[in-house]
Amino acid sequence: MPSFPPPQAFIDTQERATLARRQFIRLAGGGAILAAAGSLAGCSSAMPEAAVQAWRDPGAAQADVRRFMLANALLAPNPHNRQPWIADLREAGKIHLLCDGERLLPETDPFGRQILIGCGAFLELAVIAAAQRGLSVQVDLFPDGAPAANALPAGTRVATLTLGAAGSAQPDALFAHIPRRHTRKTAYDSQRALPDTLAAAWTATAQAFGLRAGLVTGEAAMATIRKVTREAFEIETTTAKTWLESARLIRIGPNAIAKHRDGISLNDPFVRLVHTVGVFDPMKVPAPGSSDLKRVMDRWAPFETGSGYLWLAGADNARATQVAAGRAYVRQHLQATAAGADMHPLSQALQEFPEMRGPYAAVHKLLRVDPGSGALQMLARVGFATKPSGPTPRRDLASMVRA
Ligand SMILES: Cc1cc2nc3c(=O)[nH]c(=O)nc-3n(C[C@H](O)[C@H](O)[C@H](O)COP(=O)(O)O)c2cc1C
Repeated sequence: MPSFPPPQAFIDTQERATLARRQFIRLAGGGAILAAAGSLAGCSSAMPEAAVQAWRDPGAAQADVRRFMLANALLAPNPHNRQPWIADLREAGKIHLLCDGERLLPETDPFGRQILIGCGAFLELAVIAAAQRGLSVQVDLFPDGAPAANALPAGTRVATLTLGAAGSAQPDALFAHIPRRHTRKTAYDSQRALPDTLAAAWTATAQAFGLRAGLVTGEAAMATIRKVTREAFEIETTTAKTWLESARLIRIGPNAIAKHRDGISLNDPFVRLVHTVGVFDPMKVPAPGSSDLKRVMDRWAPFETGSGYLWLAGADNARATQVAAGRAYVRQHLQATAAGADMHPLSQALQEFPEMRGPYAAVHKLLRVDPGSGALQMLARVGFATKPSGPTPRRDLASMVRA
C-alpha cells in the first residue's frame, strides 16, 4: 500500500516555527485565518472517539456470534485502512465475505493482491473470534471461482465461512491481543534484538499456512533492504497517479476522520492549521529534485529504524496464497503484540505498477525469492516502537453488513 509519510513530512521543524510566525502575522490582518488558528489552539491529536469506538471491547455487546466475529474481524490490518470488506449474513449459519469494489487501490495495488491480504487478515480474526465462543469455522475460499491474476472484480466472493457446532473449537490465546494490535509507524529502537522465540513463532505461523517467512537482521543485510525500500518510496512519491491515490484518502481533522473512518487520518494540530490556511496541500505531487520531495524523503528516516525485516512469500502467487498471507500476517502481528513487539509493513517495493519494476526485482533478488514461482506477499520492519500510538479509525459494523 502507499505508505504516506507522517504528516510532518511536508514541513520541517524550523520551517514549522517560521510558518507559525508568518501565519500569525498574516493572521493579524486576516480575520478568517485568525479564526481558523484560534479554533485549533490547544486541540488534541487524539482520534475522535466515534472513529475508534470499534476497538473498545469489540463485539462484547453482540449476542449473535456472527456479529461478534465481525466486530473483531474489522480490526484487521489492511492496506491504506480501506477496510475493503462486505459481510453478507443473509444465509443462516454462514458469513459470505465479499470484496468491496468501492474500496480498491487500483494504482498501487493494480491486481488487488494487497486488498486480498487484508481480506485474509479479516477472515483469520473472524475465525479466532468464533473459537472464543467455542465454534470452529469451515473456510471455503472463492466459492464462485478465484478471480484472474491481474484484476479483482468488485464484489468478488472471497470466502464463505460456515460455523461449526457448539464446543467444536477451543479459544485461541491470540484473541486477547486483537484490540491491542496496532501498526506503529513511529521510530523503532534499532539497538534492541527480537526474542528468538518470536522469530520461531513467525516461521511456524508461515508454515502453518503453507508459506515461507524470513527475518533479515544485522546491519549489512538491513542496509540493503533500507536502500531498496527508500528507492521504492521515492518512486511511489514522485509518480503522480500513486501519490494522488494516497492524497485523496487523507482525512484531516476530527470531522473528516469521524466522517470517513478510513484512509490516512491526520489529526496533528499543526497539520490541521497549515491545511486550514492552505499551506499544506496534499494534492501537490512532489517533483523529482524539489525541496518538497527532499522534505518527504527526510521524513522516511524513522521507517529505516528497527530490529529487522520480516518477509512472507508463498510457493506461488495464487489468489488463495494471497489470502493465506493475510491470515498468516495478522497472526504474526498478534504474536508480536503478545511479545510487546511491533510490525510495520513497507509495501512499496512489492507493488506491481510498472514504474516499480526495478525495486520489485531488486527486493526479490535480495531476499532470494523467485517472483516467477512465489512472489513476496509482505515485507515489514519489526522491532520495538519508541513511542506509543493508538488505534486507527474503523467504520461501523452496520456499514459493512448485508442482512
Ligand atoms: C497488505 C498490507 C499492506 C500494507 N502496507 C503498508 C505500507 O506500505 N505502509 C504502511 O505504513 N502501512 C502499511 N500497512 C498497514 C496499514 O496501514 C494498517 O494496517 C492500517 O492503516 C490499519 O491500521 P492498524 O493496522 O493499526 O489497525 C499495510 C497493511 C496491509 C495488510
